[in-house]
Amino acid sequence: MEIIILENEKAVYTEASARIVDWIQKKPDVMIGLATGNTMIGIYENLIAEYRRSQLDFSSVKTVNLDEYLGLDPADPSSFHSYMHRYLFKHVNMDPNNILIPDPLPEDVEEECDAYEQTIKEKGGIDVQLLGIGRDGHIGFNEPSSSLSARTRVKTLTDETLKDNFGSNKGPRFAITMGIGTIMEAKEIVLVAVGEEKAKAISSMVEGPVTASCPASALQLHPRVKVVCDNAAARDLERAEYYKWIWEHKKEVEKPHLLFRKKEKET
Ligand code: GLP
Repeated sequence: MEIIILENEKAVYTEASARIVDWIQKKPDVMIGLATGNTMIGIYENLIAEYRRSQLDFSSVKTVNLDEYLGLDPADPSSFHSYMHRYLFKHVNMDPNNILIPDPLPEDVEEECDAYEQTIKEKGGIDVQLLGIGRDGHIGFNEPSSSLSARTRVKTLTDETLKDNFGSNKGPRFAITMGIGTIMEAKEIVLVAVGEEKAKAISSMVEGPVTASCPASALQLHPRVKVVCDNAAARDLERAEYYKWIWEHKKEVEKPHLLFRKKEKET
């Protein structure tokens, strides 16, 4: 895992959105796995700003969302369909045919989940997956005790998640979510966290054991994960200074052979 600890929220959103812009520039038909939640809003604002400033082209970009509440009308303002249109899609030149979000009102839920997996594969698989993290260490809606190899399916939300997302436990109790197994197949993962309420989840994910009690900890087994967080979210990391050193010396860390060459010349 590459742990990138930055001064403040703004720097976190800048770094995370830069990773996505890089992908779009390198691969115009990139498939981006998208997340929702407050943390993502700053990233989407930066992408919209880049679209307006430099005509960053979304016309061939494919997106696939992590999850959606089951039983909510897509037009409901609390649905992730509404969220995505509000915070990103309606502001950029996305082709609606390239957008994939679980159907919250499917005729057959199991068929919808299987078809979701199938469509991701047919479209070429996820290149880069954006993730937030719940206070309990959930990613997507894979709550604690989720199988670490699960595919897209229905999950029951915890009271804590309902309170975080709806202000009370009266919100929709079920959601369709990509499984950890689905998420782990993305080529690259960018997980973003800000604020001290995420500190416990971040330390369990990065420095705790791999366990279904913290579903995000499964990312320790993925070869290309960037965790971009602010000082507050990094507060409980024991090795924060080590991660910061690596980030500050990124060029040397990534190209150590250049250092050796320099030494060779000196001798
Ligand atoms: C929801 C989403 C997650 C998101 C989490 C954190 O539960 N399903 O994908 O990571 O919220 O949201 P926030 O960024 O608002 O803290």
